Amino acid sequence: MSKKLLVTGGCGFIGSNFVRYWLEKHPDDEIVNLDALTYAGNPANLRDLENNPHYRFVKGNICDSQIVNELTKNIDIIVHFAAESHVDRSILAPEVFLQTNVLGTFNLLEAAVKNKVAHFHHIGTDEVFGSLPLETAEKFTLETKYDPRSPYSASKAASDHLVRAYGETYGLAYTITNCSNNYGPWQFPEKLFGLAITNLLEGKKVPVYGDGKNVRDWLFVTDHVRAIEAVLESGRQQETFLVGGLTRDISNFEVVSQIITLMGKNPEAEIEWVQDRAGHDRRYSIDWSATQQKLGWTPSVTFEQGLQQTIDWYRTHEDWWRPLKQKAAGFFAQNYHQKGQP
Ligand code: NAD
Ligand code: DAU
Repeated sequence: MSKKLLVTGGCGFIGSNFVRYWLEKHPDDEIVNLDALTYAGNPANLRDLENNPHYRFVKGNICDSQIVNELTKNIDIIVHFAAESHVDRSILAPEVFLQTNVLGTFNLLEAAVKNKVAHFHHIGTDEVFGSLPLETAEKFTLETKYDPRSPYSASKAASDHLVRAYGETYGLAYTITNCSNNYGPWQFPEKLFGLAITNLLEGKKVPVYGDGKNVRDWLFVTDHVRAIEAVLESGRQQETFLVGGLTRDISNFEVVSQIITLMGKNPEAEIEWVQDRAGHDRRYSIDWSATQQKLGWTPSVTFEQGLQQTIDWYRTHEDWWRPLKQKAAGFFAQNYHQKGQP
């Protein structure tokens, strides 16, 4: 039976990949995409769907209870991506993170309960678990305690708690995926992959924070989208799933060196060592074996394949990313400092 989905934040990086994938795989379903079009939201990400009768875009803020209430009527599933998502921006200006990630999520939950939405899926992050030490085999599991360490991750932790609280208190049927660092096409070029690749295409160096030994668990965006699909199709409720991409640690230095090498340049010459991020989490690593057991999901794209696809995509989408980098110039100037500078 066809379903009606309300997707929030569908003009962002992961949301747009999800909307496109979902309508390809489930052409009878309908998607309403509610997005405020912040600096990170871009209608161009879904331009190819503008004439699709199963897709509707609504410009609006998830903090606006009137719009949210209207749009949640007759919806089967809410897939909630909308968030302020960049850690560095949360360090410079945290308030909007609390508004969108906490109050916006609260607003959606209220409307979901009021309008009896059958399923609320919340996109969470592994950053809620804090930081693991380097050179250990420790991984985040469903038993790991929450320990958020940035305004971004604290606001995302609050949103996860609210979702579970609405499940317990009001009986809202929910699921949560806490996933690791996504990379791939349509990522705003301020996060590591998009920034590194586009800097190299512009003839600039790649900034690496601190000593470059920090580790992230890289996940190709389509594999994340497939995991959300597997959750939604499983019919499981009141459950959380961890989603990650790697089975071995890869440091930021290695990631950046691989990107530079694949783009035909010399890592020694192309890295710019910059001042570390405040409170920079050292290592993330996800144990996604429980998700594999319950849903049969595993990542399908190797790191090497995903990296090459991502580089190829940015090479052929210069018209898309160039104006975005100009738009973010003020942020870049505020965020990056030479090593040793205050
Ligand atoms: P993004 O920053 O690329 O996109 C966010 C989207 O939300 C944008 O289209 C923006 O316009 C929209 N938005 C922001 N505030 C809004 C508001 N108040 N009302 C309506 N729309 C609003 O983010 P992303 O990387 O696609 O992340 C999507 C979700 O996945 C977020 O919840 C994020 O916390 C989570 N997540 C991201 C990653 C990652 O690596 N990117 C990893 C784990 C979890
Ligand atoms: O782990 C999931 C999280 O991954 C998501 O919840 C966030 O929404 C998403 O932005 C991402 O957060 P990170 O802070 O890990 O991503 P970012 O791409 O900003 O940084 C990745 C790593 O690279 C991190 O250790 C910081 C480092 N870095 C980043 C930038 C932008 C650099 O060394 N230099 C840079 O210029």
